[in-house]
Amino acid sequence: MMMDTEKFIEEAIKNIREEVKDEKVIIALSGGVDSSVASVLASEAIGDQLEAIFVDHGLLRKNEAKEVEETFKDKINFKLINAEDEFIKALDGITDPEKKREVIGHKFIEVFEREARKSGATYLLQGTIAPDWIESKGNIKSHHNLTLPQGLELKIIEPLRELYKDEVREVGTQLGLPASIVHRQPFPGPGLAVRVLGNITKDKLEICREATAILTEHVEKEGLDEDLWQYFVVLTDSKVTGVKGDQRDFGYLVVIRMVQSFDAMTANVPDLPWPFLHKVSQEITANVPEITHVSLSLSNKPPSTIEFE
Ligand code: XMP
Repeated sequence: MMMDTEKFIEEAIKNIREEVKDEKVIIALSGGVDSSVASVLASEAIGDQLEAIFVDHGLLRKNEAKEVEETFKDKINFKLINAEDEFIKALDGITDPEKKREVIGHKFIEVFEREARKSGATYLLQGTIAPDWIESKGNIKSHHNLTLPQGLELKIIEPLRELYKDEVREVGTQLGLPASIVHRQPFPGPGLAVRVLGNITKDKLEICREATAILTEHVEKEGLDEDLWQYFVVLTDSKVTGVKGDQRDFGYLVVIRMVQSFDAMTANVPDLPWPFLHKVSQEITANVPEITHVSLSLSNKPPSTIEFE
């Protein structure tokens, strides 16, 4: 049955107001669809009693923090935290993918808790949607609290928890969020840390960021994005020989990964136009001098995962 989006918004606003009263609410806004829609919805209900914290961990795509800031700064009570140095320092020397996730997760909570304390919030708003809890537990807990490591306790509100992704997108569109947010491709929480293989440095992140921006520009120009679940560039930890002018050059090997999927449980690499791929490859090596070789991932999930780490 189709959801009545207007009615949902009206009721959600009423429920948030009734629950929160005059207390303060905080959300970790990632710029992804779910947290963006939850933020704008709650802001409609309680205005500046909501503080949306966007943590720039330095592992974002090119211009991402700026774009998210531009989208939200005049719409909601938005706060950008630049924590790049803190995250990069914490990741120094860490090469194991799961360890990277752990370090980033802990650091994120630390930064967020610091901000939550400053805000005086007693509620945590989350963009949880139906598949998140159906897949993870199967039980419905409508009232639960979260105690952060330093002892700060927050009551949780999850206004989107009965919705599926397409419904969340409808709500977002109705609330006036731009298509760039509502139809954004999924981006992992640990960001580019799982796409820069091995040790993370600012330089390597920058190389990955530039190559990804080139791929993105061309994918969008060709209109291929509508048919793809995710598309990105992976910076491997391998250096390979290339040639520049009449000199041998030694640079990075990158991998283009472009997949179709419905739910990320399985994924496949579709037929891709060769002229497009050649063009992207040339643009990457011409514009990112540290890269000497571009390759294409042909593996479906399974047996591969979508991300490389
Ligand atoms: P894999 O690589 O497991 O990815 O096939 C499936 C989907 O999940 C995303 N992904 C993550 N998302 N934190 C996230 O928030 C993570 O650590 C993480 N790892 C993978 C991935 O981008 C894909 O959409």
